[in-house]
Amino acid sequence: MERRTIGAAALEVGAIGLGCMPMSWAYSSSSQRGDRSLRTVHTALDAGANLLDTADMYGPFTNELLIGRVLKERRAEAFLSTKVGLLVGDGHVVANGRPGYVRRACDASLRRLQTDVIDLYQLHRPDPEVPVEETWGAMAELVAAGKVRALGVCAMGARARRRWGDVRRDPYEGTIRQLERVQQVFPVSAVQAELSVWSPEALDRLLPWCASRGVGFLAGMPLGNGFLTGTLTPGGGFEPDDLRARHPRFTAEMMAANQPLVAGLRRVAARHGDGVTPAQVALAWILAAGRHVVPVPGTKRERWARENAGAAELTLTEADLREIRALPGARGSWD
Ligand SMILES: NC(=O)c1ccc[n+]([C@@H]2O[C@H](COP(=O)([O-])OP(=O)(O)OC[C@H]3O[C@@H](n4cnc5c(N)ncnc54)[C@H](OP(=O)(O)O)[C@@H]3O)[C@@H](O)[C@H]2O)c1
Repeated sequence: MERRTIGAAALEVGAIGLGCMPMSWAYSSSSQRGDRSLRTVHTALDAGANLLDTADMYGPFTNELLIGRVLKERRAEAFLSTKVGLLVGDGHVVANGRPGYVRRACDASLRRLQTDVIDLYQLHRPDPEVPVEETWGAMAELVAAGKVRALGVCAMGARARRRWGDVRRDPYEGTIRQLERVQQVFPVSAVQAELSVWSPEALDRLLPWCASRGVGFLAGMPLGNGFLTGTLTPGGGFEPDDLRARHPRFTAEMMAANQPLVAGLRRVAARHGDGVTPAQVALAWILAAGRHVVPVPGTKRERWARENAGAAELTLTEADLREIRALPGARGSWD
């Protein structure tokens, strides 16, 4: 697979990564099976999709435990990206950016992941009670201690973006302001934020900000939580513990209204030959956004991990990119 270089630390990764969240979090728990997920991680590594994106809160903790079982055998092949700063308690997610907590959380992640170093340690959310420089300073100390190679910031999803000070009419303004604050303390190697055909806002300012500073960009939710793959049926329903059961873009009405996006991806896929899928076109569109960009599509299934990795082989033409750009904007609020 094509390799891309992320951030000042010049970290080399496969152009497509693997989002491990659906294996233990956010999507219907009845579809989460450890043995299948393990095979999926191995399949991604075999295909060169070696950036494994996890977090201590996925599960909580079970996702890191799962990835640890793979790393025990294949640490040298993987690029390990995990996160700190969010805790699950009593069904609520709370932020904790206190330095002492960050240090303890890192040691606990290392134990679960069965490794002695994390390649990319990301701040999952800023803690409103703690100046972000203090949290970031504690994370920088982990680099100095050799427990972490590089640091990243997540600004994913509307709630997180509000935490960073973003508002709808000014996407990523607050995130950029805070990125500039933490840059004074220690270099940011990567920013993780939502980027997909139906959520392209990061293209305007955040991606150029990253490119101009040599910061990598991890595109989360690159398949629109599965919608852009064309495999979901409007009105098909979601289990109550699936994030899409409450997501305004996943009501039957909005899924039907947004079908032109899927149809557009299908048209482009058909031009590239049999077997090319809308999911692959959606990922290739992200790859075309810049050499500093790495999509991390999430899946728990071997078949889809293989298909998604295959998107690295797909080069879209200028006409394809123009056609995708001209698709109607997504209907439905972003939170
Ligand atoms: N930093 C943050 O706060 C944050 C927040 C959200 C996400 N993320 C990261 O971003 C990654 C990606 O986001 P995401 O997983 O929520 O959304 P996504 O990648 O846009 O979509 C994942 C969904 O698409 C399905 N899927 C994947 N490949 C497919 C294919 N080729 N054909 C059909 N369906 C396919 C998956 O199904 P199955 O699950 O059934 O395989 C899953 O339901 C996460 O795994 C996580 O690592 C980070």
